[in-house]
This record gives sequence, structure tokens and C-alpha cells, in this order.
Amino acid sequence: MKILFLDQSGKPGGAELCLIDIAKPYRDRALVGLFADGPFKTLLQQHHIPVEVFATEAIAVRKQSNLLQALASLGQLAPLLAKVVQTAKEYDVIYANTQKALVIGALASFLARRPLVYHLHDILSREHFSQTNLRIAVTLANRFASLVIANSQASQIAFVQAGGRAELTEIVYNGFEVKNYQTSESDISHLQQQLGLQGKFVVGHFSRLAPWKGQHILIAALAQCPPEVTVILVGDALFGEQDYVQQLHQQVAAMGLENRVKFLGFRTDIPQLMAACDLVAHTSTSPEPFGRVIVEAMLCGRPVVAAKAGGAMELVENEINGFLVTPGESQELAQVINTCLQQTEITATIASNARAIASQRFDVTVINQQIANLLTHLFKY
Ligand code: UDP
Ligand code: GLC
Repeated sequence: MKILFLDQSGKPGGAELCLIDIAKPYRDRALVGLFADGPFKTLLQQHHIPVEVFATEAIAVRKQSNLLQALASLGQLAPLLAKVVQTAKEYDVIYANTQKALVIGALASFLARRPLVYHLHDILSREHFSQTNLRIAVTLANRFASLVIANSQASQIAFVQAGGRAELTEIVYNGFEVKNYQTSESDISHLQQQLGLQGKFVVGHFSRLAPWKGQHILIAALAQCPPEVTVILVGDALFGEQDYVQQLHQQVAAMGLENRVKFLGFRTDIPQLMAACDLVAHTSTSPEPFGRVIVEAMLCGRPVVAAKAGGAMELVENEINGFLVTPGESQELAQVINTCLQQTEITATIASNARAIASQRFDVTVINQQIANLLTHLFKY
């Protein structure tokens, strides 16, 4: 099956990292079309997945666009659409991986007469998107998609609540190459030494710096933990959230935590860094659609505490394979950090349970087989 994957981003967010694993089995006959240049293109090339940048200008539709702004941006999309339609004629399926890719993919699917698959990585709710963007996404998916793959039950439910047709949807979780998360003791001690983390209780946060990812909640929690607790913030502002980055630095300074919080920026050695942590924290203040970092922490054998909302609740069962806390509640988070600091044996058992469960449940070969079955099914009728 020849697949034309479409993704709006040149930057490697979770949806893009997931797409690498999905596109890989099809790489001999697939193409990933991006709407922006950037490091994601390089990553695809490193994985030998054919990639082409269809547009080099950033497309101006934002998560909170109103109808007028959305219509105005349609004009800019004409050359991009023409390119996608022409390319799509050489492929069997169009696979849209993001919302702007859905807009172009839907129109291209109609014009080039190719079926459309929409991989939904978002919770389509007013907490995350404007009413206009929700309406556009749901209307286009309902009218043009043959299949909507939701990355969690939470994303699937939100799609239906926003007016999406339930019968189009299937839930497929992200898959992971389990062996990539096995690290050696020497990797870990090397990193700990390099980052000055020896003898500390390290809480890691792995996410782009964005207000709803809630790094500020972890910093507030840290102020309520003993001095040996240190935080590493791994990730960068991928989508222009510079004000938030500044706020985080100000918060750290105001709380006198400069020696206990390290900003490491965007990194590509996530498994090693996670393994160098004693606990991984996920602190999203809005419901997380899936939450790759939660699964990754489990695969690294590290205990994870996650904000109890959205997809995270499908990944973590409290005190069985991790911990759940109320989103936005720094005090509750501090309590879990302190429990992990004191009760190391119970915490290690929970982390080891999590690793065993996650290695089976999110194995990329199993997940890719689910996607292959769904795609084959598209052509049965
Ligand atoms: N990540 C990364 N380097 C960083 C920070 C994060 O490679 O410095 C990865 C992380 O390992 C995860 C992804 O980015 O695979 C983020 O995905 P997630 O689903 O957690 O959140 P998203 O950003 O997609 O909302
Ligand atoms: C999106 C979501 C994230 C999810 C990822 C992969 O970026 O924000 O929760 O894990 O896609 O599906």
C-alpha cells in the first residue's frame, strides 16, 4: 500500500515522533509531506523515510483562530493544496497526522479521489481549541475521512462529543521500540556526573515548555520537598511559548530554587536521561491526549507520576504502575515526590510492574499490526 503521510510540523512533537514509527514499515513506498521545514525532516531522513517539504512558510491557522482568520488562511493554502493533490494521485491513501494536515488532506482526498485516514492526536475540546477550529476539524473528518484513528479513548470521546461520527473511529495507542529504552549503568552514571546529579533525588520532566504542560506546577511542588530533591526540565518551547519560558525562570529565581532546577533544552537522549531520574513527573493542567512521556518513563523502569485527566488515566493505575495526582495541585504532587523519596522499595515494585505491562501493551510491532489491519480493511469494500 502506497501511503502519502501529511504533517504540518517541521518540529518533532509527540505526534511527529509517533508518525516515524507508523511510517517506517511503509518507507519503501511511502512519502511524508511536511508543511514546514525543520529538524523533524532530518529525523525522518535518519530513519530512511522519504520526506518532502511541500511548503516552507508557516501556515497561519492557530489553535484559537476565528472563522475569518481561518477563511483568510485558506487563500494561502491554494499552492500547497495543488501540490498535495498532484502528489496524492501517485499514492493509494492520504494519512493526515495533524489538524492542518486534515484540512489539506480532506480537500486533496476529494480532488484526487483517494481515501483519507485522520490520525487524531488531540483532544478536540474548548480547553484546547477555538470553536471554529473544532467545527472545521469535525466537519472535515465526518465528510471526508474513511477512518479516524484516535490516540486514546479520551481523544475518541472528545471527538464524538464535538460532533464526530463514532463509527469512523478506532483507538490505537502509540507504539514504542521497547529495546530503545534499555540503558546501561555506565550511561546513567556518566550522565549523572555530567549534569551534577550524583547524590540527588532527581525528578525529571520531559516535555516541550508550554503553559498547559504545567512545568510551573512541578517547580511549585519542588519548593515543598527536602533540599536533596532536584528537578530537570527536558524540552524546549517548540511553538513560540517564549513568555512561558521566561515566567518559569522568574518563578525559579523568586523561589530561590536556582540550584535545584536545571533547564536542559531539547534532547535526543531521552531514555538515558529518564534512567538517570528517580521519578518522572507529568503535570499537564489540561487533559493530555495520550502522553508519550508517561509510557517512556515506564519502559525505562522509572516510577512515574501523572496528572489525572485524559489519556494519562488510560496509562496509569494509581499505585499499581504509577501515581496519579489532581492536575494543577502542586501540594499533592509534592506528597507523591516525598513518598517516592521515602518508600523506595514499594516505588521500585510499582516501576517494575509498569515496565512489564508497558513493554507488552505498547510494543511497536503490536501497534503497527493494528494499524496495518485497519488500513487493509479500508480497501475491502
Ligand atoms: N521529547 C524529546 N526531547 C525533549 C523533550 C521531549 O525527544 O527534549 C519527546 C518525548 O520523549 C516524547 C515527546 O517528545 O516522546 C513528547 O510527546 P508527548 O506525547 O509526551 O507530548 P506532546 O509534546 O506530543 O504533547
Ligand atoms: C500529541 C498529544 C500527546 C500525544 C502525542 C502522540 O502531541 O499532545 O498527548 O502523546 O500527540 O499521540
